[in-house]
Amino acid sequence: GAPVEVDISTLAPGEMKTVEWRGKPVWILKRTPEMVDSLKKVDAQVADPQSKRTEFSTTPEYALNEWRSIKKDLLVVVGICPHLGCSPSSKFQAGAQPSLPDDWQGGFLCPCHGSTFDLAGRVYKNKPSPDNLQVPRYMFEGDTKLVIG
Ligand code: FES
Repeated sequence: GAPVEVDISTLAPGEMKTVEWRGKPVWILKRTPEMVDSLKKVDAQVADPQSKRTEFSTTPEYALNEWRSIKKDLLVVVGICPHLGCSPSSKFQAGAQPSLPDDWQGGFLCPCHGSTFDLAGRVYKNKPSPDNLQVPRYMFEGDTKLVIG
């Protein structure tokens, strides 16, 4: 398929945009500084903090870091649960939901079997998803254009 171009100039901190790429939803989340900071706090709670697993997909080299992205504040991931393909929902705030891990910093929750992911798409320990959310191939053209694929 053709690469998908996305204008990211209007994305506000804390805002998420979904675009379609090869029939899949891709989430683009502009993380606030607090959201970026929250990633360190859950390193010990996620199953694969450095994205070394490759069962579902291989994380591109530029996303082999704690924030899983080229730009620290911009998360780009495929919004499909690696377990059985459901679509997780975004949960940016703590809530009174028993399925969320203690000390929840926000992230994504899969309604099908309860896999939870942090704000870098990293799966929490002891959840059915075998892998973190997939990071697609992408690059930037200037400061405002994201090219996926
Ligand atoms: Fe997401 Fe099973 S499909 S937890």
